[in-house]
Amino acid sequence: MEKKRSSFGGSIGFVLAAAGSAVGLGNIWRFPYLAAKDGGGLFLVIYLVLALSFGFTLLTSEVAIGRKAKQGPLTAYSGIKKGWGFLGVLGCIVPAIIMPYYCAIGGWVVKYLYVFAAGNGAQAAADSYFTDFISKPYEPIITMAVFFLLVVAVILLGVNKGIEKLSKILMPILVVLVIGISIFSLTVSHSDAQGVTRTGLEGFKILVIPNLKGVSFSQFLSITVEAMGQLFFSLSIAMGIMVAYGSYVSDDTNLNRSINQIEIFDTVIAVLAGVMIIPTIYAFKGREGMEANGPGLMFVALPKIFSEMGFVGNIIGALFFAMVLFAALTSAISIMEAVVASLMDAFKLSRGKASLIEGTVAFVGAVIVCLGYNKLYLEVKLPNGSVGQILDILDYVSNYVLMPIIAIGTCIFIGWVIKPKAIIEEVEKSGHKMGRKGLYSVMIKFIAPVLLLILFLKSTGIVK
Ligand code: PHE
Repeated sequence: MEKKRSSFGGSIGFVLAAAGSAVGLGNIWRFPYLAAKDGGGLFLVIYLVLALSFGFTLLTSEVAIGRKAKQGPLTAYSGIKKGWGFLGVLGCIVPAIIMPYYCAIGGWVVKYLYVFAAGNGAQAAADSYFTDFISKPYEPIITMAVFFLLVVAVILLGVNKGIEKLSKILMPILVVLVIGISIFSLTVSHSDAQGVTRTGLEGFKILVIPNLKGVSFSQFLSITVEAMGQLFFSLSIAMGIMVAYGSYVSDDTNLNRSINQIEIFDTVIAVLAGVMIIPTIYAFKGREGMEANGPGLMFVALPKIFSEMGFVGNIIGALFFAMVLFAALTSAISIMEAVVASLMDAFKLSRGKASLIEGTVAFVGAVIVCLGYNKLYLEVKLPNGSVGQILDILDYVSNYVLMPIIAIGTCIFIGWVIKPKAIIEEVEKSGHKMGRKGLYSVMIKFIAPVLLLILFLKSTGIVK
């Protein structure tokens, strides 16, 4: 029984859903940190140039492949050209690996939202609060299950009634929250125990003014590689997601315009996340405070600052974690959808059956990730030098090993096998012109694969 493939109701629905996927933890806990660390405005400029060239190329490629094949990632590549199915298999394995740990982190966000909303933010400021929480055997599993069930409910509702509808509600709220918290952050001012007063505006300057002092060519290169790795993760590229969402885009949608909007959305939110976080951190903790990123920033450094704000900190904290929850939810939904769409297309399963299979795998995986901080605790030395638990191993394998391989494979597939023309034709099918065509062809054939190879060699520690 072949049913009509579902599709987004309109281009706004598609743009908001894809932006929902793109705007996630990467924007909030890594972008601000990298920007502050890597020379402020200099990083921003490099990032923008890369977004308009490299990001635009990869995003266009994946969405166009999805729309051309009208298939989830698992079968999309083999549907276009026999023999390239392995790219689809990898593109389906990556979200399957990411889903369990994204849900575990989603559960941590649920917990913090609850603590702040209940007015108990001061507890979360204690030094060992975060590690105490994740080392508990049951509680993290319960909060993870709450997050997980929310994701599954939206997936079961389907593309239109679930993903599209929720994105149309949550994304505007997210924008309002981000803007509101940013304004607050710019207005804070704090005097520390030594009587030194620092303001949010001074911190804002560190974020945006280019700092070229002592930047050598090799540092410039490493900033570029870092910006590229960030961009790649931030746009949800190379994990099948944009292929899956592309397969739901109708043939008359103006792809070129939609892709520009998705990129602008993701980049603006990333920069605003910087404005939301860096000025506050600077005012309260000075330069040194800016060293936290990832879970350390979100679950340790920021809660301490919120609690120093006194009662208002509970409100700001609750709003902040609500915002993070929305960003994480729409991303997790896209991760699960990439796998569910793949299973539905490859094995002709119903949405319910495909969700049951992926849901079971993801839930078991997520429980194991949670237990990785207590009953199953282990320390593994990763090839890039860091030491990690189960979550870090999954993150490493997906982001540093598989994603660059998929992206390089996609460049070769498009640049040299089906040729850039195939993608350009797909984009222009709706009768709208594609901009930056020449740039696209050069990027996908030569520049992007070389940049990606450098990224891969650097992040796997093969080249220092
Ligand atoms: N793009 C998301 C972000 O910036 C992260 C993400 C990762 C989304 C994996 C989906 C899948 O945080």
